[in-house]
Amino acid sequence: MPVVHTSRSEAETRRLAQALATTLKPGDQILLTGDLGAGKTAFVRGLADGLGAPVDEVSSPTFTLVQEYRGGRLVLYHADLYRLTRAAAEDLGLEEIGLRDGVLAVEWPDRLEHVAADAICVGIEWIDETSRHITIERLTARRAPHDG
Ligand SMILES: Nc1ncnc2c1ncn2[C@@H]1O[C@H](COP(=O)(O)OP(=O)(O)OP(=O)(O)O)[C@@H](O)[C@H]1O
Ligand SMILES: [Mg+2]
Repeated sequence: MPVVHTSRSEAETRRLAQALATTLKPGDQILLTGDLGAGKTAFVRGLADGLGAPVDEVSSPTFTLVQEYRGGRLVLYHADLYRLTRAAAEDLGLEEIGLRDGVLAVEWPDRLEHVAADAICVGIEWIDETSRHITIERLTARRAPHDG
């Protein structure tokens, strides 16, 4: 079941992300969807906060496609695929990232061919200048019909 929150400030969005971060386990993928300026990068700053990694430098990874934030409970890998084609995104080999020691947060995950079956989907919807609806839902692998 998706959980929908209303955030009324960037700080509130970061606090939501911090709370989510405390539940993350190695190998988790966080897929962030929402328009330009919705608050995806702001959410990633909150994830870094919650993991205990220094956040000063979390910005849109314009020049490096995948940024790493170390020093927290888990390594946070942050990819922004906005400028990539699906083929280029595939070449990054993101599936292999973060399986042991970290978690992967992806902006514009529609560029990905494959996502984890239990990925956490975070949808951020712009309501007005300071308000956002934030939907958080962990995917569950669909069971075959005769699995009971
Ligand atoms: N409730 C809110 N939650 C998050 N950000 C907010 C909120 N209210 C205002 N903002 C502002 O919205 C902007 C969000 O920018 P951010 O870079 O996080 O967006 P983004 O989704 O990563 O965009 P892009 O697709 O360009 O990378 C910031 O300027 C932030 O201060
Ligand atoms: Mg961004």
